[in-house]
Amino acid sequence: VTASPIEASQGWPSGHDVGDLMADLDPAMAIVTTAVEGELSGCLVGFHARSSIEPVRYAVWLSKANHTYLLALSSEMLAVHFPSKGDHDLAQLFGGSTGDRVDKFDRCAWHAGPGGVPILDRLPNRFVGTRGAVLDDGGDHVCVIVEITEEHVATPFVPLRLSDVRDIEAGHPPDERRVPH
Ligand SMILES: Cc1cc2nc3c(=O)[nH]c(=O)nc-3n(C[C@H](O)[C@H](O)[C@H](O)COP(=O)(O)O)c2cc1C
Repeated sequence: VTASPIEASQGWPSGHDVGDLMADLDPAMAIVTTAVEGELSGCLVGFHARSSIEPVRYAVWLSKANHTYLLALSSEMLAVHFPSKGDHDLAQLFGGSTGDRVDKFDRCAWHAGPGGVPILDRLPNRFVGTRGAVLDDGGDHVCVIVEITEEHVATPFVPLRLSDVRDIEAGHPPDERRVPH
């Protein structure tokens, strides 16, 4: 096996790549929801991180293939929920089906939060915020900054992780494109 340039530069064992490293990191999963003029959307997200301490901001990366991405571009508010170990069914709903074909919000309990953003009743660890900067660097995911305005935290909390959702096949493969890039 020939090592790719990135493998060579990182000194990773041959055959191991960024995907393997991410699997070892085993990130917690998030479910991002949003709404525009009464239309609702939401998807499971593995790419997310806190991006500012003061003001408190959080970055999520949305695939250009997703229904949620399209809505997020013109939405005012987003909610970021952190499912726990017992929430695989919600991860399946939001990660394994697409709002292009399925009304996900018909299949779970939710209520309207600030600006109408859907809040998933089962997920008490979450925050809501206004959509801030959007960075499209030409990749297949776009960074959307959430400027947090409300937070809700519940303990104990054992997050649902990447290793818990290996069986979920994404509703939209990331190599799809909704818009030309
Ligand atoms: C483990 C896993 C991680 C995912 N991570 C992301 C992500 O970080 N960003 C994203 O936009 N989609 C991600 N997806 C894909 C979406 O959740 C999935 O394609 C979803 O069906 C899109 O729904 P929508 O078209 O209604 O937005 C992930 C899916 C899985 C199974």
